[in-house]
Amino acid sequence: MASSSFGPICLLVLGLVLNLAVPSSSQTCISQTFSKNRLFHRCNDLPALGAYLHWTYDPAKASLNLAFMAPPAKSGGWVAWAINPTTSGMIGAQSLIAFRQSNGSMTVKTYNISSYGSGIEPSDIGIKMSDPEAEYSGGVMTIFATVVLPGNKTTINQVWQVGSSVTGLSPEKHAFGQANLNSKGAIDLLKGQTQVVSSGNSRLRRANTHGILNAVSWGIMMPVGVIIARYLRTFKSADPAWFYLHASCQFSAYVIGVAGWATGLQLGKESKGVEQTTHRNIGIALFALGTLQVFALLLRPAKEHKYRFYWNIYHHSMGYTVIILGIINIFKGLDILLPDKKWRHAYIGFIASLGVIAVILEAITWVVVVKRKSGSSTKLHDAANGNRGRQP
Ligand SMILES: *[C@@H]1O[C@H](CO)[C@@H](O)[C@H](O)[C@H]1NC(C)=O
Ligand SMILES: *[C@@H]1O[C@H](CO)[C@@H](O)[C@H](O)[C@H]1NC(C)=O
Ligand SMILES: *[C@@H]1O[C@H](CO)[C@@H](O)[C@H](O)[C@H]1NC(C)=O
Repeated sequence: MASSSFGPICLLVLGLVLNLAVPSSSQTCISQTFSKNRLFHRCNDLPALGAYLHWTYDPAKASLNLAFMAPPAKSGGWVAWAINPTTSGMIGAQSLIAFRQSNGSMTVKTYNISSYGSGIEPSDIGIKMSDPEAEYSGGVMTIFATVVLPGNKTTINQVWQVGSSVTGLSPEKHAFGQANLNSKGAIDLLKGQTQVVSSGNSRLRRANTHGILNAVSWGIMMPVGVIIARYLRTFKSADPAWFYLHASCQFSAYVIGVAGWATGLQLGKESKGVEQTTHRNIGIALFALGTLQVFALLLRPAKEHKYRFYWNIYHHSMGYTVIILGIINIFKGLDILLPDKKWRHAYIGFIASLGVIAVILEAITWVVVVKRKSGSSTKLHDAANGNRGRQP
């Protein structure tokens, strides 16, 4: 019955992983990384002035955590990123402008642009900004800030600009070339200006790969492998097919899981500042238990051996521990990575359906066992002890 549908699941899942794990985008911003391990969920290669915008949008706070990168027109120049709440151009732009101060350190100041003239001075803007920071390296200035979007809008008019000099705190007029005039446009924060949405920079992409590998291995394939072992062996016709299905499913899950585990160690090593202690420790425990299970398979006593009973208890308790820890760690990982809500929902949906399937199969198993009881009462005894069917 179920053997025909469970078998290909492992292969299907494997194909899916390989598909998802291979990144596909040609945007430059994807490979850009930031100091202090800053991560942004989306990025965009802006169409003018060699500029890039990276951002994470938080709908609950209507806030935008952003990094704007652009090369200033000259090394003593400035770069600016602005939201224009009223129109699409420069007049009315609520701007963040970064430049090097006279004492040499970088700064970001806010400017309410009300004319095309020179001599603008720092001022309050109609947008709440926090954590401003600026960096200058490799000829590129970067503005970091968190801004609260006016009116909780997810499509905003952005304007960006670069200039060649600053007097005191006053950025001098920029050039008026074609690029300087084209550096504006609406941006949909939930999609991306050009609708070519990327998932962010390379570290985030690797964190996503880590999440996919581990969710598929510990969170999907292994529970399916347990269900195969627990319920298929009730059916005499599925013997010994269930064993090979179970072993190959768990072994391929283990291989993917070890790959995912290794990417996790690498991610952990890179983010020295932020320790994900629980997630990391559960991960290490999972690797250890999973490895023990593989060896347990190789060292299992023969079916009739007197220690086989104890081996079964050992193998099953280890197995269920791995499943439970694996699921817990996937939720811990989701809390760290904070992917789109649909992924958490999809996983909850998957686990719930698996639970329902397990309950149904449990019931079917008991019906089968009770029917068998009419033939032989010892088999029921066997089944009640969790020793249904045979094991090779
Ligand atoms: C912004 O709008 C979204 C959806 O319309 C809502 O869920 C969120 O709570 C709003 N945020 C604020 C700060 O008003
Ligand atoms: C430069 O001056 C600003 C204030 O004008 C100050 O906040 C900053 O710490 C100074 N940087 C250095 C390196 O002295
Ligand atoms: C920005 O300047 C314009 C024109 O001077 C003024 O009407 C507006 O209130 C200013 N905005 C803020 C937030 O100060």
